[in-house]
Amino acid sequence: MFNNIPEEILNRMEYLFKIDEEDRKDGTPRLQRLRQIPPDTGKFIALLLASSPEGIAVEIGTSAGYSTMWLGIACREVEKKLYTFELLEEKIKLAEETFSLTKLNDVVILVKGDALENIDEFENISFCFLDAEKSMYYRCYEKIIPKLVKGGILVADNAINHYEALKPMIEMAMDDDRVDSVVVPIGKGELICRKR
Ligand SMILES: C[S@@+](CC[C@H](N)C(=O)[O-])C[C@H]1O[C@@H](n2cnc3c(N)ncnc32)[C@H](O)[C@@H]1O
Repeated sequence: MFNNIPEEILNRMEYLFKIDEEDRKDGTPRLQRLRQIPPDTGKFIALLLASSPEGIAVEIGTSAGYSTMWLGIACREVEKKLYTFELLEEKIKLAEETFSLTKLNDVVILVKGDALENIDEFENISFCFLDAEKSMYYRCYEKIIPKLVKGGILVADNAINHYEALKPMIEMAMDDDRVDSVVVPIGKGELICRKR
């Protein structure tokens, strides 16, 4: 998966990575920033998606599609479809540009609007990457876990750098008999839950 990433994907990853890096330095307002995962987290979630059972993959929080490209690479590898949810118009435009330039439109479907409403239409989820506003993680967790197939995986970003904000969801996951969970110190900290 990682040794022959198409040139157009590498170029777009580099382009978005530079924008995000600059925006973090120059005081661009938080909601406008792309707030992307680092490359190691991208590889990690791609490996988890590629190892997940049969079913669809979803991502909550597309931004400009940086993490989606990592997941798209994994979808190509294992012939899965990824539904990725984004709310903000500016981010939707950038994400559409990303998926068109990188020719990922055959495996990635962008779902526009509020993920908390749109997710209700989806079932048979084998992999979910959750990377949106911290205030919605708990509600997303409650919606996603019942929809996961046996062996399905939920990954939630920011489990270490935003531990306090995500504590209710993390504690819920650790006590939840439906899943086995662990927090992995990669990137900003990833909560991994596997449905039993
Ligand atoms: C941290 S960024 C995602 C970064 C992206 N996963 C990456 O690594 O490239 C969070 C994104 O979630 C989006 N978002 C926030 N609330 C949402 C909602 N209710 N439904 C869909 N997307 C939402 C934001 O607009 C923002 O683009």
